[in-house]
This record gives sequence, C-alpha cells and structure tokens, in this order.
Amino acid sequence: MAGLRAPRRPIFAANWKMNLLRDEAESFCNDLRGALGSPEADVVIFPAAPLLDSVARSIEGLSVMVGGQDVHHESEGAFTGDVSAPQLLDAGCVWALCGHSERRRDHAETDSLVGAKARAALDHGLLPMICLGETQSQRKAGETMDTLSRQLHAVLDAIESSLDEEGEPRFALAYEPVWAIGTGATATPALAQEAHDFLRTRLAERLGTRRASQVRILYGGSAKPGNVAELIAEPDIDGFLVGGASLDSVSFRAIIHNSAAAG
Ligand code: 13P
Repeated sequence: MAGLRAPRRPIFAANWKMNLLRDEAESFCNDLRGALGSPEADVVIFPAAPLLDSVARSIEGLSVMVGGQDVHHESEGAFTGDVSAPQLLDAGCVWALCGHSERRRDHAETDSLVGAKARAALDHGLLPMICLGETQSQRKAGETMDTLSRQLHAVLDAIESSLDEEGEPRFALAYEPVWAIGTGATATPALAQEAHDFLRTRLAERLGTRRASQVRILYGGSAKPGNVAELIAEPDIDGFLVGGASLDSVSFRAIIHNSAAAG
C-alpha cells in the first residue's frame, strides 16, 4: 500500500446497504484476512444492523473497522426499528453513516435531522461519516453547489461546538452525487474534484484551513476497480464509499489495491 497520500489517510468504506446474510458477511471478512496486510489506509465495513455483531467478531485482528448504516439522534427510547449510538458502540462500531441519500429519500431525513444524527454519533464517541450530494435535477438546474452548501452547513451547525480544536477531525464527509449511485454513471474525476474542492473550501471558512485540510472527503457513486485510480489521483478525493462493488470481496480488495497503486 506504499504511496498512498499523506497527510490524509485514505478511507475505503463498504456500504453493504440491505444486502448479505451472516454466512456471506463472514466469508467476506475471511477473504480480507491476509489480503489487506497493514494498509496505509482505513478500511470500514457498514453492514446492515443484524450483521454488526458477527462482522465485528469476524474482523477481530484485522485492521478493519465496522460502522452502522444509520444512527438515531436520541440515545434511547420508543423508536421502533431504529438503532442508537450507544447500541452501535456496544456492537463494536467505530463509525456511523449519517444522511445517506437513500435515507434522505426513503425516510424523509431532513438536513437538520442529519445534523442531529451526526451530533448524537459524535457525542457518544462514534465517528460520523456524513453523506451529501445533489440529485440529477438539482445538477441540471445548476443547484449543485447550493445543495452541497446547504447540506454541509446544516451538519456543521449541529456538530461544530462538539468538535475538538486540536487533533484530527472526528468526522468524514462522503460526496455521493445521487445520480451516480447504483447507476454505473460515475462522476468524472474533474467533476468530483470540483465538488470536493468546494466542500473543503466551505469547511475552511467554518473550521479554519488547518482543520479543513485534515477532513477526509470520500467519493461515492458507482466507484469500482476500473475507475478508482483516476479518481483518487485528484487532490481532494480521499477514498471511497462503495455500494455495489463492495459486496464482493474480490472487487472491494481491487478497489483498495488499485487506489494504492495510483497513490
Ligand atoms: P454504488 O457504489 O452502488 O453506486 O453505491 C454508492 C453508495 O451509495 C455508497 O454509499
């Protein structure tokens, strides 16, 4: 894995969404065993909630982290079907996805709710991975940057006061253009870089240049072994949040390998 960029350590994250059963998840983790070495990168798996415990056990001894695909903004209570930050921690999670576009779309999650979820994650010691991105119609209407700006500021409003002044930022962003998710239509490197650069510039305005330069911004949306090298060559793309191509350990490993080779 030599050659991956400094100072931001890349993240390769598998968002399995509502896929895989326990046996499949365990064999995926076994396939990573011995194959990853000690990558100069963070590797995170986001399994569906019922798989968290078995994935957390299966990755013991591997330099791989586990995360929840969603987190409730309250720490406990009468919220049928939801999962709290303390429960995710208890299951061995380090990360929590917040604001994935499928949750914004299917569960009517608003910008302020996403902010509250990220805040809950942070307050309980989880690292939120905050997803943002424009829809096809927003891009066509020239509203991409306004959308990203609105989504980012809502989250920063919620979490800024709980961020440390010193040390590495305890959150990451994932730019996931909605039109690229599950469609095979990956953003071009230039287009993705433009969005990442925009997000980092907005981060710098809020958090200062030093802290903004430490925040890892992942790209997500039809990332696959064949396109990650050219994407990660862009200066502000710090890894990938992978859906479909993360369900198969061979292609997920190829994503990590091909990115490292390009670094
Ligand atoms: P695909 O890689 O399947 O496009 O999904 C991306 C995604 O939504 C990751 O969170």
